[in-house]
Amino acid sequence: MLKRLLIGTNLKMHKTAAETAEYLRRLQELTADISREELTLFVLPSFTALERANAVRDGSVLLGAQNMYPAARGAFAGEISVRMLREFHLDIVMAGHSERRHIFGETDETEGHKVGCALENGMVALLCIGETAEQRDSGSADEILQTQLHIGLKRVTPGQCEKLWVAYEPVWAIGNNGQPATAAYADERHRVIRHTLLKILGKAGTNVPIIYGGSVNPENAVQYIALDSVDGLFTGRSAWYADAFNVLLRRVLPVWRSRATRRT
Ligand code: PGA
Repeated sequence: MLKRLLIGTNLKMHKTAAETAEYLRRLQELTADISREELTLFVLPSFTALERANAVRDGSVLLGAQNMYPAARGAFAGEISVRMLREFHLDIVMAGHSERRHIFGETDETEGHKVGCALENGMVALLCIGETAEQRDSGSADEILQTQLHIGLKRVTPGQCEKLWVAYEPVWAIGNNGQPATAAYADERHRVIRHTLLKILGKAGTNVPIIYGGSVNPENAVQYIALDSVDGLFTGRSAWYADAFNVLLRRVLPVWRSRATRRT
């Protein structure tokens, strides 16, 4: 079990630079009393908000990018390179969010390039994986997750695992029409993911955090954190108001602590 609970949010295309700065300032203030020895908190703002976010960050919240083009420079109009992200001293780069895969048609191969590039550049790579409703219903969820991991982690060496995070986000659980996974379903998939990580990365795969995302809210968050297979949460809508996010955090922390006590 990881020492720190890992919880973060992807702000998607919802906040301007000014709104992001205000959100971050408030989140830092509200959570200032929570020890970062037990919680790693992260926020992924839009590219245009990174500068303002950086200006208000106090070090208690990690910052990351929602996407990246996996090259230092080149003829890729409209893209943001790893070199540009490094200018902001970002901690994390996300790859493979369901919206990138399903709205923008990105492939496992593309996500694998991003993961490799983020790690080579010293940033945490957060690889998101998840099956669609059709894949779940046809019984191929585990196979899909295994493929997304095998290709997405193709460029990762065991020595880089300290900076690798995985988010399991079933596509059917995300967003306004999403149905949160039951705890039992999430538990089964997380176990498959851990098993696959160990197969791909060997022992180094033991400590790669696997976080759950998809319609997490203050009511259902506790049931996921109670699972030994879940190392944290990746939250969208329920985290976009700092006050609401703070409520969610305070609900899950006691559950995390009791898990830690059980293990010692
Ligand atoms: P949601 O988003 O919590 O709003 O369902 C999750 C995500 O897209 O990561």
